[in-house]
Amino acid sequence: MSLRTIKPNIYFLGSQDWDRILFDELITIPRGTSYNSYFILGSSKNALIDTVDPSKTHELISKLKNINVKVDYIIVNHAEQDHSGSLPEIIELYPEAVIVTNERCKELLKNLLFIPEENFLTVSDGESLSLGDKTLQFLFTPWVHWPETMVSYLKEDKILFSCDFFGSHLAESQLFIEDTKTIYSPLKRYYAEIMMPFRKVIVGNINKISKLDIDIIAPSHGPLHKNVEYIIGLYKEWISDRTKPEVILPYVSMHGSTRVMVDHLIESLMNRNMVVKPFNLTNTEIGDIAETLVDASTLIIATPTVLTGPHPLAVYVTYLTNILKPKIKYLSIIGSYGWGGRTVEHLENMLSNLNVEIIEPVLVKGQPRDEDLEKIEKLADKIVLLNKSINMVSK
Ligand SMILES: Cc1cc2nc3c(=O)[nH]c(=O)nc-3n(C[C@H](O)[C@H](O)[C@H](O)COP(=O)(O)O)c2cc1C
Ligand SMILES: [Fe+2]
Ligand SMILES: [Fe+2]
Repeated sequence: MSLRTIKPNIYFLGSQDWDRILFDELITIPRGTSYNSYFILGSSKNALIDTVDPSKTHELISKLKNINVKVDYIIVNHAEQDHSGSLPEIIELYPEAVIVTNERCKELLKNLLFIPEENFLTVSDGESLSLGDKTLQFLFTPWVHWPETMVSYLKEDKILFSCDFFGSHLAESQLFIEDTKTIYSPLKRYYAEIMMPFRKVIVGNINKISKLDIDIIAPSHGPLHKNVEYIIGLYKEWISDRTKPEVILPYVSMHGSTRVMVDHLIESLMNRNMVVKPFNLTNTEIGDIAETLVDASTLIIATPTVLTGPHPLAVYVTYLTNILKPKIKYLSIIGSYGWGGRTVEHLENMLSNLNVEIIEPVLVKGQPRDEDLEKIEKLADKIVLLNKSINMVSK
């Protein structure tokens, strides 16, 4: 078996997971993902950079056997099992290998995988490790997306092994990203679920990384980046406070009354040339909503009142939005009820993480009448007006 070479003596030992459809048992990944592991042959020492998901350990082991050299170091950039899960088997096969990581990651690995203390060499932020003719430098980048996350920079070859940072959910035969159109959505979906909640801390981590001279970013999911400016540029845009004038409209309706309001809002927004993205929550992939939340300005949640509160599907999407912490600026709630309840109060209480302006909700008793639909028109006017003002600010 031949090895996939990134640069002389630097190999890709990752696995493609073509079949995976759910990540974290939460977000759909329609195009699969990969777990990227790398191997560096130095003139005096060799290093394995991260491992793979436990389901792919056998593939990593067969690649290591194929290289057929000793493993001196195993660099662990992140303790999560999709990258560290093969460690127990790998250290059994290569008992002389030293696990190189930071103190926080060591503690996590001891708890998650029962790795013994004596296997570790801990490093501090900025510390380097010589492999002879090649040098690895470790830079702590906490909270992308766990507290222990770090990146490893191979100085001589200008490669940044960034682990989850800058990753994408895409199983792909090509080693490098060849077409930015294909990768945009997998990168954005990945950012939405994994990175978006940490938008504010990513700013500091990007600044830290921007000081390095980088030819290649080698993440732990998806193909590698040769176009470093493209991915850094995308991240800078996504973490910025700038939003697109777009309305996300997740909705559910049991007997059609809320649906009439939703249809009227969609029509009203379209007539006003406003981009609107409706999602019927009974058949929506949650990853699609997460992806649009990355840069949209406005979220309107449409739900009937069910057993005194919002429909559970609306609760789910609201809860998820709150924990993903998107940068949306405006939010409102519309829906139908029969006799009373606390739908708006419930939903608003679930949005404590968001710094949004709440536009007056439109709740209608039973089927919407003409005057109710006029309120929807007014809501559309307000959405357009607010979005005009943010556009003026960002120009
Ligand atoms: C299972 C169920 C529970 C409901 N619970 C409430 C409630 O607690 N309070 C209320 O005002 N209406 C309640 N309703 C009435 C609905 O809110 C009302 O029929 C509304 O118009 C439905 O909107 P939709 O046509 O968009 O589904 C309930 C309806 C159903 C089917
Ligand atoms: Fe992770
Ligand atoms: Fe990961």
